[in-house]
Amino acid sequence: MTSSQQLRSLTIDNINPHICNAQYAVRGELAIKSEEYRAQLRKSHKSGPPTPPESPDSSPLPFDKVISANIGNPQQLDQKPITFFRQVLACLENPKLLDHADVLESTFGYPKDVIERARWLLSEIGSVGAYSQSAGAPAIRESVAKYIEERDGFPADSANIYLSAGASSGVNTLMHIICGSPKTGVLVPIPQYPLYTATLSVLNARCVPYYLDESKAWGTSMEVIKESYEKAIAEGTDVRAIVVINPGNPTGASLSESDIESVIKFAAEKKLVVMADEVYQTNVFVGQFHSFKRVLRQLQQQDKEGTFEHVELASLHSISKGMVGECGHRGGYFELVGFDKEVQAQIFKFISIVLCPPVIGQCLVEMMVNPPKKGDPSYELYNSEVSHVKDGLYKRATALYEAFQKMEGVECGEPQGSMYLFPTINLPQKAYAAAEEAGKAPDDFYCLRLLDATGICVVPGSGFGQKEGTLHLRTTFLAPGTEWVGRWNKFHEEFMDKYRD
Ligand SMILES: Cc1ncc(COP(=O)(O)O)c(C=O)c1O
Repeated sequence: MTSSQQLRSLTIDNINPHICNAQYAVRGELAIKSEEYRAQLRKSHKSGPPTPPESPDSSPLPFDKVISANIGNPQQLDQKPITFFRQVLACLENPKLLDHADVLESTFGYPKDVIERARWLLSEIGSVGAYSQSAGAPAIRESVAKYIEERDGFPADSANIYLSAGASSGVNTLMHIICGSPKTGVLVPIPQYPLYTATLSVLNARCVPYYLDESKAWGTSMEVIKESYEKAIAEGTDVRAIVVINPGNPTGASLSESDIESVIKFAAEKKLVVMADEVYQTNVFVGQFHSFKRVLRQLQQQDKEGTFEHVELASLHSISKGMVGECGHRGGYFELVGFDKEVQAQIFKFISIVLCPPVIGQCLVEMMVNPPKKGDPSYELYNSEVSHVKDGLYKRATALYEAFQKMEGVECGEPQGSMYLFPTINLPQKAYAAAEEAGKAPDDFYCLRLLDATGICVVPGSGFGQKEGTLHLRTTFLAPGTEWVGRWNKFHEEFMDKYRD
């Protein structure tokens, strides 16, 4: 026992081992190192330019900016908040401003609908400094239900809408409810956003991986899902749910309506809860977003035998992504369809234990689902800001995709949506050997070298899961400009030259 272990109650050997075992690469070793580099650069900028910035081993850094392409965090890069949202938030945080609505309008250019929305929200929630109801403010849940109704063309009931502190908190809630024993299994797409595997680890439940089909633009393959399910059942796993991320992270793929139908049919047959993570529903370049809720309602409408009547669907959305990008405010919701009333009561109790989601985040959810409409004073600006963000994302995605096309050994599908590209990287054998010598997986090794040489932080494919024998990396396309892409290109050439067989 070390002296530190003798002095404290908690040691790495006696805390919850399920936390220690959980993996979350999006904020793993590379992200931590990139933050160290960023702090160093900040320090050297503050103390003036004469001394060059230094790396942890005291040698100068070969770059002057860290590019955080590891995480879908739009406003950390260059995405600007939507003006309407922030003007309303300013009034919500400081309601005294509303006593001077004329000044807000004439001096600060706050349009009338900003003031009206802020007054209405305050009349519904009281104060953003007060707890709300556990599932969120009723009026905001009504707005969400209306949005879903308009999106899908089928009714939605606000009693089944639960506001959450981002979609992550919704996933956490649902997983806590689903994972009843260490034998509980949840089908999770691979590659996947590691929230799912990490949460299952923390809850000591089983991840049942099913691989997405890279050759079909990362679509789902029912054959593969069935195989994974059967294998898990044969191993004694009690498979209770299937997660689908649509549009995908890290793949960006939007599922076709028929893929969604197949998943729902399978879920109905095997009595599986469907968890539809739809946080990227507005980040679609190729194809179209189809909500699981709409497809389920259509199936229910067509089917006279009640096959789909009891399908349990939880669909999640968030203010973090899309053109909103307000991840720091932590807002989201999930809608439950077909859940047993007693189970729903336990979900309500569970979310009540943490009191309520952040109220400012709830207000942003309201504005996301109920933005200014044509004819409203804020509409023109809102619309141009949203289009600007959307066009910018597509342009950046395309520029990055084109750069990947030129990189030796890199294969990348066309950008389809979400905020990421997930190229395959084919590295020479010598790079594998160098990685082994450094005690790293080959994709980790490449990404670490990339960070050290260029300041660009991406996530190795192993962080999301990848088929054995393949290597990938995930990069966001949120960072502005093309200069960093050029830096990456140069690094790649040098890396390949160094390790070419
Ligand atoms: C697929 C997916 N689901 C959920 C989340 C979590 O989002 P939130 O910020 O709403 O918790 C993310 C974040 O990147 C994501 O990519």
